[in-house]
Amino acid sequence: MTKKEKYIPALNQNWLTPLYDSVLKWGMREETFKGYLIEKAHLKPGHKVLDLGCGTGTLTIQMKQLSPRIDLTGLDGDQRVLSIAKEKAEAVGAVINWKYGLAFDLSFEEASFDRVVSSLMIHHLTTVNKRKAFQEVFRVLKPGGEFHLIDFGKPTSFVMRLVAIPISHMEEAGDNIRGLLFDMLRQAGFSTILENKHFKTIFGELIYYRSIK
Ligand SMILES: C[S@@+](CC[C@H](N)C(=O)[O-])C[C@H]1O[C@@H](n2cnc3c(N)ncnc32)[C@H](O)[C@@H]1O
Repeated sequence: MTKKEKYIPALNQNWLTPLYDSVLKWGMREETFKGYLIEKAHLKPGHKVLDLGCGTGTLTIQMKQLSPRIDLTGLDGDQRVLSIAKEKAEAVGAVINWKYGLAFDLSFEEASFDRVVSSLMIHHLTTVNKRKAFQEVFRVLKPGGEFHLIDFGKPTSFVMRLVAIPISHMEEAGDNIRGLLFDMLRQAGFSTILENKHFKTIFGELIYYRSIK
């Protein structure tokens, strides 16, 4: 497997990683869509929660601050973003388990988590690896556990279709833009609900999916 098939860095190139947080904050309505994801996850004290492809840890830290009694793991395939995440968490005293790993080959035991959340990671995976990652999420969730996912989706307006053109030809993001994630989630075994919740950003339209094991 090539390095690119394993993982693509947060902004596609390693040298851009230090800019990631600013791009998300100013260009992607980060607070709005991550806040929505957290609200929908209904985290409860004692919940075991996995942030899949946690990147620089903004969502992970926000979850821990809002729900201090969850047992939270942030996993990513890039050691560089994980060290940024660790530093950010230490700065605010958030205790989180940071783990290096690949989304499509998780080392956790079956039925380990009550919730898995994932933001903007799935469009980094090849088609085969997306399917494997969804199967892995299904495996590590407890029965009745929930997978809350936000990522690029099929554009719903002319402007958003134009914005999506540059990424739509790539295998990784193309699956998202063609609207294939819903069927992939179902094929992995989930009951998936599309709530028709879209977030328009300067890089494309984000869609929220709620899936139950
Ligand atoms: C666009 S960033 C999103 C980060 C974070 N979830 C957020 O919303 O800000 C995508 C992240 O997915 C990670 N990633 C890409 N492929 C991965 C894989 N196969 N396994 C685990 N993480 C992966 C990248 O390293 C990167 O940190």
